[in-house]
This record gives sequence, C-alpha cells and structure tokens, in this order.
Amino acid sequence: MYRTNYCANFRKDDVGKRVKVCGWAQKQRDLGSLIFIDLRDRSGIIQLAFDENTPEELFRKAFSVRAEFVLAAEGVVRPRGEGAVNTALPTGEIEIAVEKMEILSQADTPPFEVLNAGSVRDELRLKYRYLHLRHPDLQRNLMVRHRLSRVAREYFDRENFLEIETPVLIKSTPEGARDYLVPSRVHPGSFYALPQSPQLYKQLLMVSGFDRYMQIVKCFRDEDLRADRQPEFTQLDLEMSFADQEDVMQVNEGFLKRVFKEFLGIELALPLRRMTWKDAMENYGSDKPDLRFDCKLVNLSEIVKDSEFKVFSGAVSAGGSVRGICVKGVADRLSRKEIDKLTDFVKTYRAKGLAWLKGGEETTSSFAKFLTAEENAAICEKLGFEKGDAAFLVADGNNRVVFDALGALRCHCAELFGLYDKSAYELLWVVDFPLLERDEETGRYKAMHHPFTAPMDEDLPLLDTAPEKVRAKAYDIIINGTEAGGGSVRIHQREIQQKVFHVIGLTAEEANEKFGFLLEAFRYGVPPHAGLAYGFDRLVSLILGLDQIRDVIAFPKVQNAMELMSECPAPVPQSALEELAIQIQKSENTEALPS
Ligand code: AMO
Ligand code: AMP
Repeated sequence: MYRTNYCANFRKDDVGKRVKVCGWAQKQRDLGSLIFIDLRDRSGIIQLAFDENTPEELFRKAFSVRAEFVLAAEGVVRPRGEGAVNTALPTGEIEIAVEKMEILSQADTPPFEVLNAGSVRDELRLKYRYLHLRHPDLQRNLMVRHRLSRVAREYFDRENFLEIETPVLIKSTPEGARDYLVPSRVHPGSFYALPQSPQLYKQLLMVSGFDRYMQIVKCFRDEDLRADRQPEFTQLDLEMSFADQEDVMQVNEGFLKRVFKEFLGIELALPLRRMTWKDAMENYGSDKPDLRFDCKLVNLSEIVKDSEFKVFSGAVSAGGSVRGICVKGVADRLSRKEIDKLTDFVKTYRAKGLAWLKGGEETTSSFAKFLTAEENAAICEKLGFEKGDAAFLVADGNNRVVFDALGALRCHCAELFGLYDKSAYELLWVVDFPLLERDEETGRYKAMHHPFTAPMDEDLPLLDTAPEKVRAKAYDIIINGTEAGGGSVRIHQREIQQKVFHVIGLTAEEANEKFGFLLEAFRYGVPPHAGLAYGFDRLVSLILGLDQIRDVIAFPKVQNAMELMSECPAPVPQSALEELAIQIQKSENTEALPS
C-alpha cells in the first residue's frame, strides 16, 4: 500500500497517526538541520519534515530530493512548530515527521516550475502539457469537468434518457463546417468523415424508438479556432421523441438549475428568460446577448434618413441603418487615443468608421457639425445621452455590419470600463431564429441551424413566397454572452423536408446522395422529435468562470490546429500513403503554407 490517504486530506485530528503518502516533490527547503518537502498529489500538498531526530541516511535522501521527484513517505502526523502554521493551506497546521521514504522516480530539472506555469510562454507549456496539468488550477478544472459529466449522466438518466454511442467513422454530417476526412484502405479513394455532431444518428435513434437519447461525445470541425472553439470538442448531446420545443426547454432548464445549484450555489429562477432572435439583434446586435450589462443598441435611422450628412442618410437609403450605443458615465475616461482604438476595433467588424459623442465639460462630437441642431438634439434624446456619457454610432448600408460592429463594441466597452459584475450569471434562451440565411459568397440560401430544423407552422406558406422571413423552431441557450448550446425541433414530414431542400438549392439527387439513409428511414414511421446539444467544454469553462475552453481540455490544440506535445498532424511514411492509394500533391502553395 503506497498511501493511507491523499496528501491534502490530513487535518489536525490526525495528529499522532502513522500515515503513508505519495506524490511529487513540489519544493524542497533545506534549512541546515531541518529539511521540508512540499509533497503534492491531486488533492493538494502536505509538508514532509526531516529534523535532528531523522536517521542520517534518510536525512541525506531528503537532501537529495529535487523538484518533481516522485516520493513515497511514511511517518507520524504532528502539529507544525510555533510560527510555521500556514493558514492559506488546508494542511497548514500540520506536517508529517517522516520515518521512511522511498524515491520512486527521479526527475530532470523541468522546463518550468509547475506552480509558475502561468507566466510561461504558451508554446512551452503546451509542449510539456503533462507538467502544466500538474498545476492545481488545471487539476481542479478537469475534476470539475469530471463532476459535470457525472451530474449530466445522473440527471438525464433520471429523466429516462439512454446513453447510446454513435459511430465516429461516418458519412458527412451537415453542421456547416469543413469535415475531417479519414481515408479508407479497403476502398481506395473513399473517405469516412469524422462527425461534426451525431445529428443524423440521433435522429435515426428516434426512428428506432429509443425515445430519449443522450451522449457525451467528441465532435470534429475543421474551422478557425477561437477562445471558445477547438477542432476537436465535446458535446452533451440530446434528442427526444414525441417532444416539442417546450419539452426540450423544460428538461434542460431542470438540468441547468441542478448544475448552477450544485456547482455555483446559485438558485436559478425558472423558466429562464426568452428573447426572440429579432429582439436580440435589435437590442444587442448579437444572437448571443450578454445580459450582465445594459447599454442597448438604439436605432437612429429615422432621425438621419434625410440628413445632409451622406455617411448617415446614405446608409439608410442603401437599405441599412444608423445605430448607436450610449455608455453611461465614462466620458472622462475616454481619450482621443482610446477613441482611435475603438475605431480600429469596429473596423475589424467591417464598419467603415465610428462616429462618437463625448459629454465632458462641453459635449464634443465627431459628427455634430454635419447635422442640424434638431438632428443632433433628437439623437441625444433617443440615445438617452447625458453629461458624462459617451456614445458611439455606426452607419452602414448593410445592417449585418451595424449589428456586428456595435454588438461587439458594446461587449468591448463593458470589458474596458468594467461595467459588470464578473461573478454574475445571466442565462436566456434565444428563440425564433430565421430558418435560412444567405451565404455571403454564393448568395444562396442555407440553413441557419441545419437543414433538418422545422419551420414554424404559421410561417410554412412563406417558404414559397418569402423564404428569408420563415422562422425556425430553433433555440440557443446563452450564458453570459456565450452560446452554451443549441438545438431545434426537427422536420418529420417528407413534403416539408423536400421543400426546405429545394429552397436551399439541394436537388432531390443531391439530398439523396447526402442524407438518403435518413430520408429513407423517415418512410418507415418517424415520431415528432426535437433535441439540443451543449458545447460541453464551454459549459465547464462557464461554470469555472474561464474565458478559454482550452483550460478545461486535457490535451488541446492551438490556433493552427496543431497539438504541440505530440506534434500532430504529422507526415506519414510513403508506404502508408501507398496503402491508402493517396498521392500528395506538392504545389507551390502548399509548400508556402506555414507549418
Ligand atoms: P451546434 O452546431 O450549434 O449544434 O453545436 C452545439 C454546441 O456545440 C458547441 N460547439 C463548439 N464547442 C467548441 N468548439 C467548437 N468548434 C464548437 N462548435 C460548436 C457550441 C454549440 O452551441 N447537432 C446540433 C445540435 C442539435 O440540433 O441538437 C449541433 O451540433 O456550444
Ligand atoms: P468623414 O466625413 O469621413 O470625416 O466622417 C465624419 C465622422 O463620421 C467621423 O467621425 C467618422 O469616423 C464618422 N464616420 C465615417 N464613416 C462612418 C460610418 N460608416 N459609421 C459611423 N461613423 C462614420
């Protein structure tokens, strides 16, 4: 037996007990006649003590211990000496007077001190991820992740959901990102796709009568990485038969209530707030509004539509708008340089400029001189602009640009000026999404969620006449401005499915080629069904108050989709390629790509 308990589980009550512990030496302090070693395992640390009563050979062994040596020690728990109590540590009142110790494994000098990992270059930490993972923060993150998966399994089991595994080598699924492909050796020239989600399979499980399905499942999407995106991530995936939007929301609100209570001690008031997609865009410029702060978007188009100032009136006449936000009480914190930075910020969202108003001793403005006194007064009134405030306006012929720029600026200002309580949580459902959106490149309609999402019954006639106006039975759960999950009621009537395929420009043959097996299954009795998937990594990071999902994933990938520890992706031997009948084309372009 290596240990009687984990290091950090000993307390004052244990004084006098003979115990065994094992773990890593975090730090060795040599005070001449005294040696202390902080021994670390996943629970935390305990102090090992060696003194004048320690046999000489053991003392010498303690002297030789370096950081990250692996040790097993046996001794008696005793109170720490006068003045040596460390109230910051759970085990800070005690130590183990060591009588036996074995060095189980020595360690080279690590490339960084584990406790110091926070200040180390990212690439280095990721190359030695297993060392960074020894840090108490990452240990805690992965333990919370484990607990959340246990709570999820328990909760959904009690709600009669069955955990069923779906395949990983599949035919492409339609979630809109690029697929990761896996070549087949047996069928040269043919490929499996890794699932972007188990969407089609979970719907098939409904056809098979499993009624309620859940899975904690890996998904793969070849898309650009961001703080809340990894190419390989985990979903908590659900599907329910004989269920509509309300049923899905209800069972998930129960889940979130349990999670918030258990992990954060927060009592969520149910039902959660709901907001239509249209209201979310109008008021917050985003389909995932962060409601921890106010600062709503205000539409100023009516006031300036006939203005002499063409930047404003031109945007409105081109079919776009002029909108603004008023940030309360920050005028004196807004320098010229800051305004320039904010202008550059909105330009990354394709805005052509940023007009501003600043209510200092005197009100200054970048645009007042181009407008009439009435127009200026009306703008201030509509914005609720007062002395001490700052306001920002964006004009564009494309509403999408106005929403994106101001929606992002709103959050940026909240961060910059500290407008919200960072420990607060604001949850809401965003509902009534449009069924379709225009692909900016091809100009064609595409499904906003995925092509199996049901249109709202009352909007069905619009599918023929004004498809862009059709709303979907789709919903997202938003936590603090992050899309924690999303789902929809699915189409289970063949005629409607065909119509949707038609509108998004999929011919019957193409639909058949892509999802024929699902469509065929639907011919043999399909229940009405609906579902949802959480980004599991996002849920864990939200609970922990982290803004990177990387910190809740044991071995994450970096920006360019590399995994720096094992250094993958990597080339394979020519023989492996030949077996797969694959030839690598070396174009100038591929060679010029950064590795
Ligand atoms: P969707 O594509 O919205 O829906 O994905 C569901 C949730 O998964 C999370 N997510 C991600 N997390 C980390 N990295 C990524 N690259 C990533 N992409 C998505 C988000 C998102 O809300 N099959 C549907 C669900 C359904 O209709 O039931 C689906 O996959 O939190
Ligand atoms: P200009 O006439 O280009 O000097 O612009 C006058 C003011 O309008 C400046 O403050 C610009 O930053 C601002 N502005 C220019 N284009 C836009 C735009 N698309 N939206 C909002 N403000 C703009």
